[in-house]
Amino acid sequence: MLYPENLTVNNQGHLCIAGQDTVSLAREFGTPLYVLNEDKVRQNCRGYKTAIDTYYGGNGLALYASKALCTMYTARIAASEGLGADVVSGGEIYTLKKAGFPMEKVFFHGNNKTPDEIQLALDCGVGHIVVDNVYELDTLNKIAASKGMVQKILFRIKPGIDAHTHDFVRTGQIDSKFGVALENGEAFEIHKYAVTLENICVDGVHCHIGSQIFDVDPFKEAAKVMMNFISDLRDKLGIDPHILNLGGGFGIKYVESDDPLAPYEYVKAAIDVVKEVATERNMPLPYLVFEPGRSIVAEAGITLYTVGCVKDIENVRTYVSVDGGMTDNPRYIMYGAKYSACIANKANAENVKEVTIAGKCCESGDLIQENVKLPLTEVGDTLAVLATGAYNYSMSSNYNRIPRPAMVAVKENGEKKVIIKRETYEDIIKNDLL
Ligand code: LLP
Repeated sequence: MLYPENLTVNNQGHLCIAGQDTVSLAREFGTPLYVLNEDKVRQNCRGYKTAIDTYYGGNGLALYASKALCTMYTARIAASEGLGADVVSGGEIYTLKKAGFPMEKVFFHGNNKTPDEIQLALDCGVGHIVVDNVYELDTLNKIAASKGMVQKILFRIKPGIDAHTHDFVRTGQIDSKFGVALENGEAFEIHKYAVTLENICVDGVHCHIGSQIFDVDPFKEAAKVMMNFISDLRDKLGIDPHILNLGGGFGIKYVESDDPLAPYEYVKAAIDVVKEVATERNMPLPYLVFEPGRSIVAEAGITLYTVGCVKDIENVRTYVSVDGGMTDNPRYIMYGAKYSACIANKANAENVKEVTIAGKCCESGDLIQENVKLPLTEVGDTLAVLATGAYNYSMSSNYNRIPRPAMVAVKENGEKKVIIKRETYEDIIKNDLL
């Protein structure tokens, strides 16, 4: 059984997160329940900040990638730890603004930002827009002009690196809906055009090569490609894109076989390359930005469920059904994502049986995980799925009109706060007009 370092087992044999008994949490707040270890989130934020301070003299910023888990509370945690944030929608901008986030430290991404979202971003004082394409550039220029402002931007570049193949390759990624490509000159041309626009200020370039990546080489390659591109822009266009945003994507441990490096190692490896190229091409060091999401919140979160029906189908498999499913964690049905699970009230018991953990939706594929070894599991047990802090709540739905779970933030000092309240049936019908 894989227990991340923020999980322990108490003398009752109950799983604990931040030292708090998960069985009691389930009893107090009900299930399904998202639980987030706030100390762990803060520690992860600090890890990135320290890495940039240590290896790069603090000349950069870690942005919390809101899409991993966007709540007012997590935004406030990121802000109080000195991080910026990346957002990809009006809803995320609105959440951060309402949370009192310092909006000048926000970078707005997306391949199809609507004019309304761009308006909102400018009205909220979003620091940088990461422009995806020429249509967006023109729209932004017009909106900025109408407000009499000059908007700072970065361009989203496809560096031509596909990090998701076995050995990453440096071709093929031109087929992506995000950004402008280097290899066909598109990225260069858009910069050439942008400098002619009065209400746009090109501050830097951005790339993001994928998510849940373990290998350090694609990040190094991306840093190299992007640094050389900045140098070309300086030489050929005389512009100064002084921000290099290398995106996020650092992998985390979901199951025993996952073997990610410590986050600072990815950061350091990219920084080493940035420094090398800067010396080689005789250019100043850029302000360096990273955008980790999953690696900040994933392992800090778990989901607690109550076991209902246990269906033993002889010679086939055993389904352990829980009171949640693809509505609170769609990652198995979407990606076949791997998770570790345990029975929280029998955390020391031996895993004796391979089971399939099923959700309660009217959908055969609604599974949380197949082939998991668990102790003998009975009705009423509390089942914990680990490392669900990222892309679970943020990707949840009301399929089958199932209300979303609550989320509780816990700390080692005993604090526990409901940061998202459980949806009710009234919430479910609140937009039904007739
Ligand atoms: N920056 C940009 C521009 C991104 O597109 C992403 C993730 C991140 C940062 C953060 O990446 P992270 O550090 O969290 O890997 N729904 C998928 C993940 C999609 C990630 C999309 N972009 C999942 O559940 O695995």
